[in-house]
Amino acid sequence: MPSLNLVPASTLDYRHLAKKKLPRNLFDYIDGGAYSEATLAANTANFEALHIKQRVMRDVSNIDTSLEILGERWAMPLALAPIGLAGMMARRGEVQAVKAANHANVPFCLSTVSICALEEVASATIQPFWFQLYMMRDRGYVRDLLGRAKSVGVKTLVFTVDLAVVGARYRDVRNGMAGGLSTLGKLRAALEYPLHPAWAFDVGVKGKPHVFGNLSDKVPTAKSVADFKSWVDTQFDPSCTWKDIEWLRAQWDGHLIIKGILNVDDAKSAFAAGADAIVVSNHGGRQLDGVASSISITPRIRNALGDAATIIMDGGVRSGQDVLKARASGADAVLIGRPWVWALAARGQAGLHKLLATFKAEMAVSMALTGATSIVEITDGVLDLGN
Ligand SMILES: Cc1cc2nc3c(=O)[nH]c(=O)nc-3n(C[C@H](O)[C@H](O)[C@H](O)COP(=O)(O)O)c2cc1C
Repeated sequence: MPSLNLVPASTLDYRHLAKKKLPRNLFDYIDGGAYSEATLAANTANFEALHIKQRVMRDVSNIDTSLEILGERWAMPLALAPIGLAGMMARRGEVQAVKAANHANVPFCLSTVSICALEEVASATIQPFWFQLYMMRDRGYVRDLLGRAKSVGVKTLVFTVDLAVVGARYRDVRNGMAGGLSTLGKLRAALEYPLHPAWAFDVGVKGKPHVFGNLSDKVPTAKSVADFKSWVDTQFDPSCTWKDIEWLRAQWDGHLIIKGILNVDDAKSAFAAGADAIVVSNHGGRQLDGVASSISITPRIRNALGDAATIIMDGGVRSGQDVLKARASGADAVLIGRPWVWALAARGQAGLHKLLATFKAEMAVSMALTGATSIVEITDGVLDLGN
């Protein structure tokens, strides 16, 4: 974004502002993906490559972007994805995010590894929020977390299945976020803080405590991905199978969404194990680099599962027009990850609020110019497949 621009207009404008505001290691932690970041790039490139059909001379004076999913009415088919450490990007970040989501009437999903705890987010929200969970070896601890979630009003659990082990993200390695910093490296990393004084004051000074709020009894600090990784290595359960989802299903009587599905067989297994919905996701290109983009996989999963299955997708959604493309490709709704964190880092709750309004406006314009007045009218007929 050229420096003369006074008002951020698009997701990438917020990314640009976040880059200036955040210490480099935090910006790269959000921005990066695994290995050569090929899947990360494909997630957005494949959205851009999709063409849509312009339709004219239809009555588009009333556009309704709202829809009902899992018994709730959303203002548009979009929810905020779970993002670990979001509270390091802005002061008590998850609290600001849930308030912005409330305002826009879209769901907010709290990560297991958030800075703000379930209880802190619950005290700030006026709508139920979602909770994302990873399977831990200590099933008693999983049950405790589920109990905490339920007691603060969580009705929808998002269970993430694509992080049996943590994918290698080279940017985090280079920045020492994955550990291994020399003394000189630590000194250079510390210099990043005075170089970003607005962040240092907002988060470094005023945003404490910097702990994994939900896990503070288990993980004493949350300053780095290294803390997270060492905890994951010892606590996450790589032996988890669909049988464990059946166990989880028996513990949780709310909605269950399985996140991190990339093929038809796994999608069928998720529903067979009791899922109410799935998220077609490659974890934003942060896990297995080399897999196809989520948007390219979504149509085949919809075709195999039929119309009745609730299918959400994420990865690469950067505008309201992308939401329309995702719907036309077979998704009921999308999650956005990086976009919401960039807006939050750049401008806090007000920035995220504005970004969500922008998504909605972009959706409405895209619907009007493709001739769709309601969400159900966004079918694959909206896509220009050259036929
Ligand atoms: C910085 C960052 C942290 C993330 N942390 C989590 C997490 O704690 N739990 C989870 O299920 N997914 C996590 N994800 C994945 C997102 O929920 C989501 O799948 C992904 O960001 C979607 O891609 P997008 O960023 O292109 O929108 C994270 C993604 C990013 C970028």
